[in-house]
Amino acid sequence: MAFRKRILCIGAGYVGGPTMAVIADKCPQYKVTVVDINRARIEAWNSPNLPIYEPGLDAVVERARGRNLFFSANIDAGIREADIIFVSVNTPTKNFGQGAGYASDLQYLEQTARRILEVSDRPKIIVEKSTLPVRTAEAMERILDSTPRGVHFDVLSNPEFLAEGSAIADLENPDRVLLGARDTASGQKALAEIVRIYANWVPRERILTTNVWSSELSKLTANAFLAQRISSINTISALCERTEANVDEVAFAIGRDSRIGPKFLKASVGFGGSCFKKDILNLVYLCRHYGLMEVADYWESVVRLNDWQQHRFVGRMLTHMFNTIAGKRVAVFGFAFKADTGDTRETPALTVVRDLLAEHAVPVITDPKAIPEARHDLADALDRVEFTEDPYEAVKGAHAIAVCTEWQQFVRLDYAKIFALMRKPAFVFDGRNILDHRKLYDVGFNVVPIGKAELIHH
Ligand SMILES: NC(=O)c1ccc[n+]([C@@H]2O[C@H](COP(=O)([O-])OP(=O)(O)OC[C@H]3O[C@@H](n4cnc5c(N)ncnc54)[C@H](O)[C@@H]3O)[C@@H](O)[C@H]2O)c1
Repeated sequence: MAFRKRILCIGAGYVGGPTMAVIADKCPQYKVTVVDINRARIEAWNSPNLPIYEPGLDAVVERARGRNLFFSANIDAGIREADIIFVSVNTPTKNFGQGAGYASDLQYLEQTARRILEVSDRPKIIVEKSTLPVRTAEAMERILDSTPRGVHFDVLSNPEFLAEGSAIADLENPDRVLLGARDTASGQKALAEIVRIYANWVPRERILTTNVWSSELSKLTANAFLAQRISSINTISALCERTEANVDEVAFAIGRDSRIGPKFLKASVGFGGSCFKKDILNLVYLCRHYGLMEVADYWESVVRLNDWQQHRFVGRMLTHMFNTIAGKRVAVFGFAFKADTGDTRETPALTVVRDLLAEHAVPVITDPKAIPEARHDLADALDRVEFTEDPYEAVKGAHAIAVCTEWQQFVRLDYAKIFALMRKPAFVFDGRNILDHRKLYDVGFNVVPIGKAELIHH
């Protein structure tokens, strides 16, 4: 079959893989190839065991792979044949040099730009899918224009708003698709080409088009606002614990105000994931760069608050468990940064485990999907941490359970059986407020939720 256009995606990660799988699934008239420097990842994408876990992903890949969806380690061949190149490489926080700890590390992005320039012999549309500092497209354009071969590239911004754990549903039915382009004839023509792809399944009114800089900045802003809501409700959770107010009731009450809305108001041990912290710190860096110190401080406090909330969780464990947890086994329920993913990047569970280790406790981690990642994240402490996929194993001889991920599996466990397996007094610290606290108390547990009264047996 002759394809309408050939799409390439550079970067086969949590974004590139699922995004391209859905584009290929919805647009059989396009050939979609995903490449990566990580050969093992490409092999996994070509195997029955995909490199990432996402509900529904297997079925989408199954339908499209080999038909119009291909995974390859041959980056140059992919670039050569592509008409449209999505760049979805990682843009972590820089950990060296100027801006260390705040700025985005753009070396992977720049490498791809240079590779595209090196290999291309005809015009192409380049689409920034990675989350980038505002005005990165300008740097991309300058690199791509840096040789006199005369090949023209249009650089567009198309940030991705999917959330891990619901990536396929988000991609198939997005709130919006955002596209930013230059206001030139060529920029607008390129824009129309990308709109045409999404229009295969996204209603036209949900495809938003803006200038490039608004598009780039909207992604950082969206993540900053989402994270800010979590930090805001978490500040209130601490106040609730002092005042007998109940944070879930407060969240429900304020969420009924249509100006506030009910989503993303769940108090917890804190937010995690590869993006929120990184993107806010990037925003902070940009603000400082432009001399907007008050703006920078405002957003930085969202991250500071999140760190505080994570440490506070173990602080409360210590207080309730008689000011010592040295030598005590603590079953850590969940290591993924959220439910329905195996991703552990910036997971609050890691902070909790590190704090437990600092107190000489013995963390026993259980998670349905993230045990391999947990082992990797704790490679320096494998002799002091235990891992098991079976929660009933994890609680044997434990003094406490610390719920760090809102996996529904944990809600359905037999807590009478678990209570019998634990040391007494047995504690549950519910860092996600997902369990039935009254029921646990009746079973015999001391229960310490987030942002509401503890249930303690005397
Ligand atoms: N993970 C999310 O939920 C999410 C959501 C929206 C946006 N984003 C953004 O999307 C981007 C990608 O995130 P991710 O989570 O998919 O990252 P990831 O680390 O899972 O994947 C990035 C991939 O790019 C590959 N890569 C790096 N340099 C390369 C090069 N020069 N050539 C070819 N491949 C290269 C890496 O090997 C890796 O497999 C980031 O900018 C992130 O901020 C992520």
